[in-house]
Amino acid sequence: MRGNTMCRSRGFSSRWTHLVLVLSALCCLLTPTLSVKHENFKTCAQSGFCKRNRDYADHASSLSSSWDSPYKLDSSSIKFSNGVLSGTLLKTIDTTIAETVRLPLIITFLESGTARITIDEERRQKGEIELRHDSKARKERYNEAEKWAIVGGMQLSSGAAVSRDAEAGSTKVVYGPGSTFEAVIHHAPFGVDFKRGGETQIKFNEKGYMNVEHWRPKIEKPVEGKKEGEDGISEEVAKETGEDESTWWEESFGGNTDSKPRGPESVGIDVTFPGYEHVYGIAEHTGPLSLKQTRGGEGNFNEPYRLYNSDVFEYELDSPMTLYGSIPFMQAHKKDSTVGILWLNAAETWIDIVKAKISANPLSLGIGGHTDTQTHWFSESGLIDVFVFLGPSPKDVVRSYSELTGYTQLPQQFAIGYHQCRWNYVTDEDVRDVDRKFDKHSIPYDVIWLDIEYTEGKKYFTWDPLTFPDPLGMQKQLDAHDRKLVAIIDPHIKNEGGYGVVDELKSKDLAVHNKDDTIYEGWCWPGSSYWIDCFSPSARKWWAGLFQYAKFPSSAPNLFIWNDMNEPSVFNGPETTMPKDNLHHGHWEHRDVHNINGMTLINATYEALLSRNKAEEKSLRRPFVLTRSFYSGSQRLGAMWTGDNQASWDHLAASVGMILSMGISGFPFAGADVGGFFGNPSKELLTRWYQAGAFYPFFRGHAHIDTRRREPYLAGAPSTEIITQALRLRYSLLPAWYTAFHQASTSGTPIVQPNYYVHPGDEKGFAIDDQLYLGNTGLLAKPVTSEGAESVDIYLADAETYYDYFDFTTYQGPGTKTVAAPLEKIPILMQGGHIIPRRERPRRSSGLMKFDPFTLVVVLGNSGDAEGELYLDDGESFEYEAGAYIHRKFAYSGTTLTLSSEDLSIEGKKTKQYLQTMMDVRVEKIIIIGAPESWKTKSEVGVSEEGANKSTPVKKAALSWHAASGGKAAWAVVRNPAVAIGKGWKVDFAS
Ligand SMILES: *[C@@H]1O[C@H](CO)[C@@H](O)[C@H](O)[C@H]1NC(C)=O
Ligand SMILES: *[C@@H]1O[C@H](CO)[C@@H](O)[C@H](O)[C@H]1NC(C)=O
Repeated sequence: MRGNTMCRSRGFSSRWTHLVLVLSALCCLLTPTLSVKHENFKTCAQSGFCKRNRDYADHASSLSSSWDSPYKLDSSSIKFSNGVLSGTLLKTIDTTIAETVRLPLIITFLESGTARITIDEERRQKGEIELRHDSKARKERYNEAEKWAIVGGMQLSSGAAVSRDAEAGSTKVVYGPGSTFEAVIHHAPFGVDFKRGGETQIKFNEKGYMNVEHWRPKIEKPVEGKKEGEDGISEEVAKETGEDESTWWEESFGGNTDSKPRGPESVGIDVTFPGYEHVYGIAEHTGPLSLKQTRGGEGNFNEPYRLYNSDVFEYELDSPMTLYGSIPFMQAHKKDSTVGILWLNAAETWIDIVKAKISANPLSLGIGGHTDTQTHWFSESGLIDVFVFLGPSPKDVVRSYSELTGYTQLPQQFAIGYHQCRWNYVTDEDVRDVDRKFDKHSIPYDVIWLDIEYTEGKKYFTWDPLTFPDPLGMQKQLDAHDRKLVAIIDPHIKNEGGYGVVDELKSKDLAVHNKDDTIYEGWCWPGSSYWIDCFSPSARKWWAGLFQYAKFPSSAPNLFIWNDMNEPSVFNGPETTMPKDNLHHGHWEHRDVHNINGMTLINATYEALLSRNKAEEKSLRRPFVLTRSFYSGSQRLGAMWTGDNQASWDHLAASVGMILSMGISGFPFAGADVGGFFGNPSKELLTRWYQAGAFYPFFRGHAHIDTRRREPYLAGAPSTEIITQALRLRYSLLPAWYTAFHQASTSGTPIVQPNYYVHPGDEKGFAIDDQLYLGNTGLLAKPVTSEGAESVDIYLADAETYYDYFDFTTYQGPGTKTVAAPLEKIPILMQGGHIIPRRERPRRSSGLMKFDPFTLVVVLGNSGDAEGELYLDDGESFEYEAGAYIHRKFAYSGTTLTLSSEDLSIEGKKTKQYLQTMMDVRVEKIIIIGAPESWKTKSEVGVSEEGANKSTPVKKAALSWHAASGGKAAWAVVRNPAVAIGKGWKVDFAS
């Protein structure tokens, strides 16, 4: 939804209302261009540990080869068994007296080929430190990020083998598939090189930026009058090491002082990808998919990429500033090789990126220079805990990452239809009216949304009795066409007497605490509020109870949930969030867990929606939760959107790269507000945005309360018609989308994919982020994102034939092709070699398409062959887990001239029963694009179906062929082959 601003026109108590209204009127009048308030968010120089770690790196760099990283692995401490290497790192802090800090090291080698490096601090681990200010916080470094993020893939490697090289001072572990991976652990200074096939892919601490700020007591500065030098040890040390102590013990920003009871405790290390020029990931940021350098210079950023989940009001484009969510997962890519790392730390994190030109060694004649991408990661607290993925393909890296953090939830079918939202549909009659108007204009949609105004005074789990007198009647009307309602429920709970929810929250002590362990109070939409602490199992259990039908009045089974403001957004908190020294369940400081906070809320809501359904007669339905804040693992629980964007062409353009970035970051169920949240889009912009939105995995129109109404039927000619076509296109392709979601939910594959992911060998396409492939359907869309465009240039990476989706105009790759794109047209090409499933009957909602027949579009490639997949289930329950689904592979062979449907499913308890329900669902049409000229005289094809009565002759179906003309390919149609979608069959074009 929206953020914290004077422009917001609600939320304060009456005393403020007048002033706010006046100011907001002024402010909204005076701000035609919107911009982020930089002063509300820290720069690196304003974030103590960021500055310290950057300074440390600068210091190390300036000394270059004479820099001696103070971290050494004690060789005598190394142990190895069952795929786990352990030992102790010694950090020398005072060379004169050889004083060291002990840092336990564990390197884990997993059966999957993933490795993990974990570095802790012994003294904090044992709790042998003193907290300042009588703090109630935990003493250990936070070690529970894995509890939230990691759900699988942790089986230890049985084949990993260790060997030592005493002379080189290193230890080597061979592991991974076919023992082709290697970790070379250097003892002094400590560092690890990861190799694949003998070639180094990733180096840790090559630059010597490793930094673990160990615990130390605060030595009070000499008081005035005391003789200098008497008590000045820490100052001397500081001078010697060049460390900046000013932010060790206390830090202030925006009027808030962080008490930092554990003192300085940041961790950091450099990670080099030798020979890799492109890095991707670390969502969520604006800016290009292929990440920029961050240490200044022409066209580069001056600030590191930041990960600190924040409600960034009116965020800016092309920026490394933090946004609402964090996925600390990065991929490095070069021709035919991809590797990656996951930095499992939930505290505020920054990442510097430098692409260093390494010149050719003059002695190695003929070998040119190359580029290394040097990254530097640091977090305010917690462990160094890094997972290492060695690829070799982008698919392998995303799969390994998803195996650990979980696959995308397979959503209900409705969730990938179109969602109609605005702040706000103001009454239940308004909702009913919008619903009727969609029908009147024959525009499909699945879900209508309610923003915060539906509640009584921003008290969640209530309805405003004046504006929403009949919520059940409203939900019933929606259900008549299998439509859903999504209502917002945020984590801030209004502090108001007589509100049952807040009374329970307080009496059961389930809210986030202040640093002194009393309940934390802050400001958000309702005014004074408390925040549920979903790190607490009892809080999550209580939350689940609130969604029971009996407890959440007037909630029906077609109601689902939107969790917003879960960074958490706190209007009067530092950087619009909670103080870092707040305490959560288990007495972890907010500092330690901040980036996971949003995920804990949607975890609780997901579980809540499951348990409210237990009483239903229907089998359990899959929850739907939309979240704004997220972390690694959130993909298991719902969808995300890119927050409060603006109705401008550049925001439309930026959305494509941001959504692609979410896909390769393992959270592909992503979308941006169609039309732009702030401001009023022109008709043209709105139209183009719907056309782009038809290719967002999560497709929702949304708008700010101050904007004009913009439901598609209001746009007027020709926009309403064009938008309707875009929505119908989305609905006709739902079988392809759902199949892509299935693939994401089983192998981590992004739902929409960037060029480098599909063509990992094509160097020219590595930075392309303005066009996208839909799953593995071969559909390539290039949304129009500039005003007045009549055409777009589409980049084709491979030597394949591509066809215009609508008129079959052919384009021969590779190269950049200009494709006409008048307003009514979405530029979409079909890559040869694929078969695309569609459902072409226009319906009001996806639920009404359940038993509709299919059309298969066979797009012949240069080889003359094509193949595709279809995944299908009931679209709502979990019965697919018991085999209640259809999964077919379609293959057309240009050699045998047959199209066949093969079963890819694994039979389960519910398979037969499900197939029975789908028995009458047939293929009604097959379109063959690039059909051979020899079919000119053909009028029939032979059709045979599995299980058919052997004595019944093979059926015939009519074929018509259409000649190529004016650059458009020849095509053929088989009408009504009438084969069942759930059965094996064959269409014979030779007979
Ligand atoms: C929610 O979190 C708890 C605690 O980490 C976990 O056991 C549970 O599986 C999570 N629920 C879902 C749906 O992921
Ligand atoms: C198979 O077809 C024959 C001839 O049409 C018919 O008599 C017979 O009943 C059919 N058998 C089955 C099992 O449908």
